[in-house]
Amino acid sequence: MDNKLFIFDTTLRDGEQVPGCQLNTVEKIQVAKALENLGVDVIEAGFPISSPGDFNSVIEISKAVTWPTICALTRAVEKDIDVAAEALKYAKHKRIHTGIGTSDYHIKYKFNSTQDDILQRAVACVKYAKRYVEDVEFYAEDAGRTDNEYLARVIEAVIKAGATVVNIPDTTGYCLPSEYGEKIKYLVEHVDGIDKAIISTHCHNDLGMATANTMAGILNGARQAEVTINGIGERAGNTALEEIAMILKCHRNIPIITDINTQKIYDISRMVSSLMNMPVQSNKAVVGRNAFAHSSGIHQDGVLKNAQTYEIMNPKDVGLDENSIVLTARSGRAALKNRLKILGVSVDDDKLDKVYAEFLKLADKKKEIHDDDILVLAGDNRSLNHRIMLDYLQVTSGIGFRDVASIGLNISGEKFEAAATGNGPVDAAIRALKKIVNREMTLKEFTIQAINKGSDDVGKVHMQVEYDNRVYYGFGANTDIVAASIEAYIDCINKFIID
Ligand code: KIV
Ligand code: ZN
Repeated sequence: MDNKLFIFDTTLRDGEQVPGCQLNTVEKIQVAKALENLGVDVIEAGFPISSPGDFNSVIEISKAVTWPTICALTRAVEKDIDVAAEALKYAKHKRIHTGIGTSDYHIKYKFNSTQDDILQRAVACVKYAKRYVEDVEFYAEDAGRTDNEYLARVIEAVIKAGATVVNIPDTTGYCLPSEYGEKIKYLVEHVDGIDKAIISTHCHNDLGMATANTMAGILNGARQAEVTINGIGERAGNTALEEIAMILKCHRNIPIITDINTQKIYDISRMVSSLMNMPVQSNKAVVGRNAFAHSSGIHQDGVLKNAQTYEIMNPKDVGLDENSIVLTARSGRAALKNRLKILGVSVDDDKLDKVYAEFLKLADKKKEIHDDDILVLAGDNRSLNHRIMLDYLQVTSGIGFRDVASIGLNISGEKFEAAATGNGPVDAAIRALKKIVNREMTLKEFTIQAINKGSDDVGKVHMQVEYDNRVYYGFGANTDIVAASIEAYIDCINKFIID
């Protein structure tokens, strides 16, 4: 079908490459099943040669998912392709995604090679992958900065070698929409045999143009879009699936359709955000908390008279109905359980009772309970399995004297205590913690966010801690921000202590 746009989701590969976003296999299966339910055509499940964890996830996702094609990434290296083929052995529909850098930057500095050599390697990797699978996608890495004439030669050659899909990544997010659209048009007009393959877009968001570039590609002939949920991905991320799906839904004059069930967008957005500990910015298009919130009086008045005055999308089309926005003290257990399920947290009846009791306490303090609050409550619950747990934290801070913290930790059932002074209460608490967990750890990033606006607010802390040349991500939430900071630090430590 010429007017169908294939949706290739790379949340579990490009998205998962982001430090702190790593999922375990069970979580990846959960996301893969949700993607299948959403209606994506292709799931890029991982880069099997990169780690045993990735290899195993591709195997398990292949077993768990029925309809979408399962895709595995490789470099233009035979061993990579062997391993990808092995990982895909249980997939009902399988694709190998192989490729090589084609821009002068990649050819000269990454490969110290020549255009002719790279072209031959491109053809060779496609032919090699074809020994294993019929469906082979070729990516021309940094195609965004590759000369169009050379790119066309490479694409023509790989299609002759059997590539079924040709991916034109704007790897660095550099292109202007007009340039990217022209590039796709150039390929459509100059590549012999282009009708034998599907052209794919893969746009990064470094300059905030990923969605615009993807749309320019589609309007000029691309029929596959590589996207991620919430636009997560390397650096500033990839094109957001939800944006492309909703653009095509809203702009009915564009005669291109997807199989995405847009009403499932909001749920999967929250699930991915929660599992990957990656908050969705409030003003994010389509799925941000404020995307449908009208606060100015003029807008509210207009929307009450007729929603179309200020709303181009119906919130219901992305799966948001009024009931799903806010829970209050009057909400029952079933509503809470349902919301937890939507957020990707499954609880048995005992756990639900505990979370519900906490929920009611919080609902007494705050009028409205949002998803972030619920994740905080459930997050407490998830930390029960941690090896290191915070027993107590006492901090004395103020102006005119040194801040002092004493801390008690429970490490695998054993109790430890320490005290320290520091430059501020968080510093004092971290110093006390480090007296017990004595490792070479460096705090790399530390952000505190308030969930709402009141002084009784829950503060959320996101941290990155470097240990042994790797960065670990941690999250904590508490009405006391020093406690939230220590919880986040402990969350980081628990990640590498388990490793
Ligand atoms: O951005 C990119 O070029 C990629 C390729 C590996 C497809 O992610
Ligand atoms: Zn990418």
